[in-house]
Amino acid sequence: MSTTPAENGLFISFEGIDGSGKSTQVTRLAAHLRSSGHDVVVTREPGGSEGAEEIRALVLQGDPDRWSAETEILLFTAARRDHLERLIHPALKAGKIVICDRFADSTRMYQGLSRGDLRPVVDQLHDLMIGTEPDLTLLIDMDPVEGLKRAKGRQGVEERFEDFGAELQAAMRAGFLALAKEYSERFRVIDGAQDMNAVAQQIATVVDAALTAPR
Ligand code: TYD
Repeated sequence: MSTTPAENGLFISFEGIDGSGKSTQVTRLAAHLRSSGHDVVVTREPGGSEGAEEIRALVLQGDPDRWSAETEILLFTAARRDHLERLIHPALKAGKIVICDRFADSTRMYQGLSRGDLRPVVDQLHDLMIGTEPDLTLLIDMDPVEGLKRAKGRQGVEERFEDFGAELQAAMRAGFLALAKEYSERFRVIDGAQDMNAVAQQIATVVDAALTAPR
């Protein structure tokens, strides 16, 4: 598997704590890029391919203690590998823009941080089985209390990580900001407290700049 980011297209990921408004912004960015004539593929993790969506159900539904932390890392990574092989890499090779709602940074945070320090395991497995990073990662930074309110406002069966509570969400927020520093060349931090249109506008500006920059 290639270890270079994108072959021809542009690989963009969105990251942030639960309820940060990512999904809305993914849709807005896709509409913006399509309106300027780009071929855009919108996808998400865990999931995005048939097999990975099956794994999504395994990790996000049912008893939260169903899997050990290590098994969970393997499942998320297995889903990601399938997603890359079947959807992301082919789309990038075809010159498309891929927008992915969460990618490996979510595993670095959620699995790497939430049940002890498993970040080295996440990174080793990533190097071995994934080896791809987005060209651009948009971190929607958000006050965890606000984020939690938004996340809890939604009904659904995928409760697993939204039950974390404010304290862990605060650790996640700090973790994501630290990750943005660690991978500063590809991360852009967006203030999620702005109104939705302002967030969308800022993201469009960042992505338009990335598209015109030499790659
Ligand atoms: P998502 O559908 O993006 O939920 P939200 O819109 O609330 O952000 O992600 C589902 C959950 O899966 C989310 O709580 C984060 C978690 N997750 C991990 O724990 N590890 C991962 O590698 C990924 C991609 C997601």
